[in-house]
Amino acid sequence: MMLEPGSPGWRGRTLSRRAALRGGLLGGLSLFLPFAGNKRQLPVPSGPGGLSFPPVPPGAGDAVRVADGHVAQVLLRWGDPVLPGAPPFDPRRQSARAQAMQFGYNADYVGFIPLQQGGSASHHGLLVVNHESPNARLMLPDYDPDDPTAEQLDIQLAALGVTFVEVYSDVDDRWKVRSDSPRNWRVTGLSPTLLSGPAAGHPWTRTSADPDGTRVLGMLANCSAALTPWGTLLTSEENFHLFFGDRNDFPEDDPRYWIYIDYGLPLKGTQFGFEKADDRFRIDKEPNESFRFGYQVEIDPFDPSWIPRKRTALGRLRSEGASVALTATGQAACYYGDDIMFACVYKFVSRHAMAALDRQHNLRLLDEGTLFAARFNADGSGDWLPLVAGRGPLNRANGFPSQAEVCLNTIRAASLAGATRMDRPEDIVIHPHTRKVYIALTKNPLRGDPTVQRSEPDAANPRKNNRAGHIIELEEDRADHGATRFRWRIFMLCGDPAAPDSYYGGYPKSLVSRMACPDNMVFDKDGNLWVATDGQADVFGDADALFAIPTEGPERGFARRFFTGVPGAEITGPCFTPDCSTLFVSVQHPGEGGTLSEPISSWPDGVQPPRPAVVAIRALDGRQVGKAAAGG
Ligand code: FEO
Ligand code: CA
Ligand code: CA
Repeated sequence: MMLEPGSPGWRGRTLSRRAALRGGLLGGLSLFLPFAGNKRQLPVPSGPGGLSFPPVPPGAGDAVRVADGHVAQVLLRWGDPVLPGAPPFDPRRQSARAQAMQFGYNADYVGFIPLQQGGSASHHGLLVVNHESPNARLMLPDYDPDDPTAEQLDIQLAALGVTFVEVYSDVDDRWKVRSDSPRNWRVTGLSPTLLSGPAAGHPWTRTSADPDGTRVLGMLANCSAALTPWGTLLTSEENFHLFFGDRNDFPEDDPRYWIYIDYGLPLKGTQFGFEKADDRFRIDKEPNESFRFGYQVEIDPFDPSWIPRKRTALGRLRSEGASVALTATGQAACYYGDDIMFACVYKFVSRHAMAALDRQHNLRLLDEGTLFAARFNADGSGDWLPLVAGRGPLNRANGFPSQAEVCLNTIRAASLAGATRMDRPEDIVIHPHTRKVYIALTKNPLRGDPTVQRSEPDAANPRKNNRAGHIIELEEDRADHGATRFRWRIFMLCGDPAAPDSYYGGYPKSLVSRMACPDNMVFDKDGNLWVATDGQADVFGDADALFAIPTEGPERGFARRFFTGVPGAEITGPCFTPDCSTLFVSVQHPGEGGTLSEPISSWPDGVQPPRPAVVAIRALDGRQVGKAAAGG
């Protein structure tokens, strides 16, 4: 019987388990507390998924730290040359042209595409890295937030997007960057992209620079991403709304007015200030430019001549990142969330099946299909609600005369359809063996706030003032990613492990590593879930970190801290090589919250400015990461 949070009556069960533990009345509850009789020992590896590292202490100080038996190597820093002819990094003489040939800022997603098969598959690959956001105060020594220059704007745009760069590990197992490789290229906030799918060319996508509404300058806020089964990258434009300001006196009777509000576009200035240097980012001057961002963008990693496509059929959101799998009948199924408080979880299922050898066919898969939003029912069941114009409330009277409006105003469509408003859905990942789907809900301190409408806790978002977040496990009917019904349960409730409303697989506080605000996630090949956090400092006062958590067997839910970051930084983009002998992570926005004159971090080089970077982690004994012998 599944006695986990999310199943009916779990709150009472939780209390009674703890009461039973205190009284030594384990009895039938030992299923939940497998090590309760031996509390001072760590669980031993329990089979093929077993992890064998002692947790690192909570992060403190201006250095990263990795579990014993492993070594962490800084591989790629913001500004490192990645294109032939790129100048060396010099923050005092930076230009947009130089930045476009260098590694971008604030690395988030990391993907690894093997370039050789067989035994070399995990030692030579194309590394794919997203660059999510700029921070002019740490990037540009002469930046004046009241009067940014056009060149400073272009430097920041050139620091966004994606880097594709060839990497290899040599005889001493250190990773190297092949900066002169013809395979290296960048997509930036200034690269040409195309809108495709139902919303392409809609009147709301047309601008003075692009009267057809199909050709867009750049991508913004690419947070996480996925590699598709047909070999492309699907990268998510997340917090695009933070880039467009100055709505000013936009008329309320224009339907776009309410869409700006639903998507959180600020009334006046933005935090990045781009609108001060380019009218493209001013809503009062260019009211449709923001409708051209917020998409899942498909890119061919090996063909820079194929212009990246913004797949509008998947909706317009502030999505952290997608995961892509195939249904039982071979269609693409893409899972993703809208990373905002009280926003929803989505799935897109393509109309056509993937054809293994037909590249042209596969490059059209994501333009046609069905978009769904998730409803998590209180009884542990769930429904994927189709967001289809003309069906149910998605009619002309409600502002949905065609599917294009569903794709442009997806938040409203999901709300009308009755989808569940979640606690900020971040990464969504798929277990490599069970096909269960794991959803990180990073936090929602406004849950249950009496001043916020429709904020009451529900079964899937059970905590008021959810500062530490939780993780949901979703099982599709028949384990088919094409299903329209599912079962769900809460896998983990993060926060102080001693708190009665936290849940770490039933393990006592003395054993687990405290964890808050789950964000990026990845599975290793054995089905252990690796979770990076973004908010550990706010909840516990220690650095964001990477945790490993078995999902099956007796260690299910047992969280161990593996790697810790530096002040101001979150950990992002965990990614394994196919054999899991290397784990790549990004240390994003080190020193955020400080300035060049009042720094809070000098990582990784001990000087200013701090540099967001990708780190490669290996086991000293060459074994799988997380399974190394301590001290080996
Ligand atoms: Fe870019 Fe959802 O964090
Ligand atoms: Ca994130
Ligand atoms: Ca985040």
